Formats: sequence, structure tokens, C-alpha cells
Amino acid sequence: MCGIIAVVQERGDVAPFLHQALKRLEYRGYDSVGVTTIANNKMYTKKDKGKIEEVHRRLNLDEMPGLIGIGHTRWATHGAPSMSNAHPHFDCENKIAVVHNGVIDNFMELRKNLSEKGHKFNSETDTEVIPHMIEDLMKEGLNLVESIKEVTKRIEGTYAIVAMSTKENDKIVCTRDGNPLVIGTKSGASYVSSDIPAFLPITNDMILLLDGEIASLTNQGIHIERLSDGEIVSRDSIKISWTADQAQKSGYPHFMLKEIHEQPDAIRKTLRLRSETIETAARLIREAENVYILAMGTSGHAAKAGRHMFASLSGILPSFELASDFQDTVYGSLSERDCIIAITQSGETTDTITAVKYAKHYGAKIIAITNVVGSSITRLADHTVLTQAGPEIGVAATKTFMVQLTSLALIALALGEMTGFKESEEIVKKRSSLEKLPELVSEVISRNEERARKLASILYEKPSLLFLGRGVSMATAEEGALKLKEIAYNHAEAYSAGESKHGPIALVQDGYPVIFVVPSDETRNRIIGNIMEMKARGATIISVTQKEDVEITELSDYVFTVPEITEAEFSVMPYVVPLQLFSYYMALRNGYDPDKPRNLAKSVTVL
Ligand code: G6P
Repeated sequence: MCGIIAVVQERGDVAPFLHQALKRLEYRGYDSVGVTTIANNKMYTKKDKGKIEEVHRRLNLDEMPGLIGIGHTRWATHGAPSMSNAHPHFDCENKIAVVHNGVIDNFMELRKNLSEKGHKFNSETDTEVIPHMIEDLMKEGLNLVESIKEVTKRIEGTYAIVAMSTKENDKIVCTRDGNPLVIGTKSGASYVSSDIPAFLPITNDMILLLDGEIASLTNQGIHIERLSDGEIVSRDSIKISWTADQAQKSGYPHFMLKEIHEQPDAIRKTLRLRSETIETAARLIREAENVYILAMGTSGHAAKAGRHMFASLSGILPSFELASDFQDTVYGSLSERDCIIAITQSGETTDTITAVKYAKHYGAKIIAITNVVGSSITRLADHTVLTQAGPEIGVAATKTFMVQLTSLALIALALGEMTGFKESEEIVKKRSSLEKLPELVSEVISRNEERARKLASILYEKPSLLFLGRGVSMATAEEGALKLKEIAYNHAEAYSAGESKHGPIALVQDGYPVIFVVPSDETRNRIIGNIMEMKARGATIISVTQKEDVEITELSDYVFTVPEITEAEFSVMPYVVPLQLFSYYMALRNGYDPDKPRNLAKSVTVL
């Protein structure tokens, strides 16, 4: 949510790099974009409302002088998307430029005080108080680092802040509390960004910046200090295994389609996670008194599927709670004997981080399942399972969902071995079926992509669709409905097929599309009854079912097929794929960019 990039380098203008880096961060927000560079002791700024390429066509973001610069792509919180609300923001004299991700809760009071002192504001943002405060502090004789240290004492909220000033025109200063920033290093240049893909084509060497630390970047090096006591932090850089190619479209029209196609490989890589990593997670769960799985959005659907896997394979049924509502559900009934499994692809979702901090306060053990090395959740967790999807750029999660499911399946199997709930031959059989999933998912993609495109051309104008499943397939139905809402904007609702007759059926009339998820598991025969009920009311029936299921095929107007019987616990993985493809083609038919759904951001860092 909001993308930040900054660079200081020894040679060459930074503007073309900033432009490209912002494009790699655009999934974090695309309401407006802005870049400021410093050359000859002067600030040069280009910023406007709109997506990066639209703004670039108007302003040419590549032509700006300077060896140092900052850039920002915005997801609006305070103030509508507009040129004046676009970052960077400045002091009264245009000597200090600031970009920010997060929310300054006490900005109204700070703004009032600054206005009374004569500061003129040009935007409605919370961010703009920061350069004006720095201005006053620098006038009092503090340098840029000291001023920002002082600012962090006065602001309340969450933030990642990056600033530069013409008075110290060789330096980028950044600090964070609650929002991500990572530093990239390479000989002759240093970078700071909200996320790793921004500088991936240039360097794989990264230094983590933690909450409560301040860093200054110059061509002489990187200096990090702890804000609380001024202690100098010496931290080695780490090598990131992601490649720049993974963050490119590689010939696909959209990241989302590319990422759907990358799922088999992502599963394969996650299946190779070290067995110690999986066993440690399983042991923590096994030893706990109560187990909670917390997540938001798509990760929440992985959590729900994981719950079924755990119960069926190990006899342990964790509670699923939306991270955003966790505190308001458990009312402090936690203890150090409890275990939290927090699932978040980005590792930065504020709802999930806040819930985890709350649980930690009671001493609960935290297992994080995330895709981003060094992300905030990894620093809070007692144990991290790092999924192997590589960078996911499309806002709508696809391959990260798949690897969350893969890692949950591995943990459930390990847990099953520990509890002995299932016969060991049964666990061996399930494990070998899990190992076949990369090939299976690959076949599901090739078998259903054209069908998804055709069906979208038939259904794209439908204002509303129902997605129904039972048992673990509820997670598939919910994820299918979420994908469709997120990127194609057709209203979609997921229900348990069992519950559908208790209300949703009232919506159904001639031609109303109802999508059923019908794997060959113990729910199948009961779902047939639900299909009949919907058919009797004129619904158009679309099923995702097993290839040989003649009965379901005959009852359906359209079918997506999965070629082989899948173990019930893992069925979400192949069965969700046609629904991902369907949403993608629905978005295209409706004329929307599936990679940049309106009002959404990939990493949501507000409560
Ligand atoms: C946002 C994204 C969703 C994502 C959710 C949780 O809403 O648009 O795609 O599922 O955040 O994100 P997380 O990083 O915690 O998995």
C-alpha cells in the first residue's frame, strides 16, 4: 500500500531507474505517482494523478537531472487522488522532499500547530506535516538525520518515511515503524524501497531495516542507527534468491496470467521446503492447547482450507479467525500454551501483524507462513515457513495462494504423522498425491484456459453470480468469488451449498449463474441435490468437477474439469485454478486491467 523508492548513485541520472522501479512497485497503489530529484542544489519534481505510464506520457518521467532522487506510487488514504495530494511533499521553501507509506494519526493537531506558525500546506495528506516539521528543525540547527529522529518522537501512527534535502544533497534518510522498507546495495549506488522487486534488476543484495531504526544512504556508505538509544546497527546484507525475470511479464499480457501459469513451479519449489521447517511448525501446533489460524483476504481462504487439512489428517481442528477481528473475538482468552498460525503472503498486512502482536502479548507461540523474506511477520514469529512462489506482482493473489496451501498440506501431513490420527499408509498415499499436484495443476490450466475465456464471453455482463461448495470446497468457492469481485467487478457471493437454500436461492431466476465446486469427495452426492434445486429455478449451472463425472457434467450447462481424482484435503489446489482463469477473462471482457483492480492494493498496511 503505497510504493516508495529512493536511490543515490555515483554516476548517471537516477530518473529512468526511478520510473522503472515505480512500475515494479505499482501493485502497491496506483492513484498517483511522483518523482523528485536533486541537481545543482535544486529540486526537480514531476507528479500527477493516474497510473505511472499515463503520467509518464504526459510528463516524461525519464528526463530529470540528478544523481539522487525519490519516488512514490500512491494508494490514497488522506485526500482524494490528485496532483496536489501526490507524493513527494515539500516544506515551504521546496528544500525538503518526503515520501511516506502509512498513516500519521495525529496529523491534524500537528498541521494546526504548523499552520499557526505560518507554514503553508498544499495538500490534504497526513504526510505533508513531515517536511514542514523537518523545515523547522533544520532551521533550529539540526541536520536531516537529527530532524527526522525528532519527527519520529512527535508523530503517532505507522510509517515508512524517506526524505532528502538540498541542504545535504548527497543523502537519503529513511526510517520505519510498522511499514516496510528494505535497503538495496551495489557498488556505486544504494537504494531504499518498500519492497524487493523495485531494485531486483540491479541488485540482489539487501539489508533489512527494522522498525525503530533510521538509515542514511550516501555514496560513502550506509549508516543505520537505533532510534531508542542511538546505538549503531551493523547488519550484513543478505542475498535474495528472486530474479529480475520473475518480476517481469515474460511475454504474458498480464502478471496475473503469468502467475497463474507459474503455479505448478511454485508448488514444486514449496514442496522442497526443508523437512525441519515443516516439522518445527507441526511440533508447535501439536504442543499447543488452542490453535488459531489468522489471515485476511485470499490468505484467509488458504487458512480455511488448512483447517480442513489439519482436522482430516491429524485430528486437530484449529479455529479460523479473521485477523482484523481477532481481538474482538477472543477477548483476551489467550495464553502461552496457545499457538497462532498467521498466513500472509506479503508479511506486512497490518490487520494480521496487529493480531499477532496482540497474541504475543499473551505469550502465544507464532508460526508465520509468508512469501517475503525479512518481512515484518518474520520478525514477530517464533517460527517462519517461507513459501516459494517468487515475487507476485498481480494484485489478485494466485500463486501465493497455491504455495500457502502447499505448505499447509505439508504441515498437516507432518502433524498427522505425529498424532497418528490416520494410518501411516494413508499418510504416505496422501503425500504421494500431493507430490503429483504440480503436474495436475499444469494440466488443469491447459485443459481449462480456453473454456474460461469462452465462458467469460458468455457471462461477462451478468451482474451477480453465486459460488457454491461444501466442506473444504467452500474455500475454493470463496476464493473464486473473491477473485471475480476483485478484478472483474461482477458481484459474486460464495455460500455453502448446504446453506444456499436458506436465503441465496431467493436470488435465483432464469439464467442466474451458479458455479458449483464438485470434487469427487464425500460432499459430491449432497451437492447433486443442491444443483437440482438451483436448476429447478432456472439457474445456469457451471460446475468445476472431475473429468469422468458424467452425472455432474450432464446436470451442468458448462463444465470445467480436473483430470484426476484428488485427495479431498488438497482439492482446493486444482479446483480453484479454472476459477482464477475465469475471473481473469471476465476482467478482460469487462474491459478492466486485472493486474490493477480499482481501490485495491497488494499489501494493505492500514487497519
Ligand atoms: C489485500 C490483497 C489480497 C490479499 C490480502 C491479504 O487485500 O489485495 O490479495 O489476499 O490483502 O494479504 P496478505 O499479504 O496478508 O496475504
